[in-house]
Amino acid sequence: MKTVLTFGTFDVLHVGHLRVLERAAALGERLVVGVSSDELNMQKKGRSPVFSQAERLQLVAALSCVDVVFLEESLDLKRDYLLRYGADILAMGDDWKGRFDEFSDICNVVYFERTPAVSTTAIIEKIRL
Ligand code: CTP
Repeated sequence: MKTVLTFGTFDVLHVGHLRVLERAAALGERLVVGVSSDELNMQKKGRSPVFSQAERLQLVAALSCVDVVFLEESLDLKRDYLLRYGADILAMGDDWKGRFDEFSDICNVVYFERTPAVSTTAIIEKIRL
């Protein structure tokens, strides 16, 4: 049974998120998703998420293509998470292209093209206007 793992914030869940998760799930039999903690998102993106980590975990877990969710609390623990969940494949959007190649000694690393014209940042801006 192949396990696929992906990471992300998944704030203000949108179709770009759904599509990357569906494509990741299609690569194996079990999809595990590391959802960034509120604190980690603050470090990565310099803002608090709109939806709390508990809400984002609940929303991602409810998607039919997702089997397991966990809270990603540190960027430095990626290797530990991949080993802990027995990942055969690490799948990410291509905004991260090349940035996870260091893990190709323990799993296959795959990058998907992002869905065009949608992002959490753009949605927040649109609502704000
Ligand atoms: N993603 C995607 N297509 C989009 C938006 C996101 O494939 N249009 C993917 C990212 O590449 C990543 C995952 O969804 O693998 C989670 O991305 P995240 O950073 O949570 O979402 P963004 O919409 O990119 O958020 P932001 O605008 O805050 O950067």
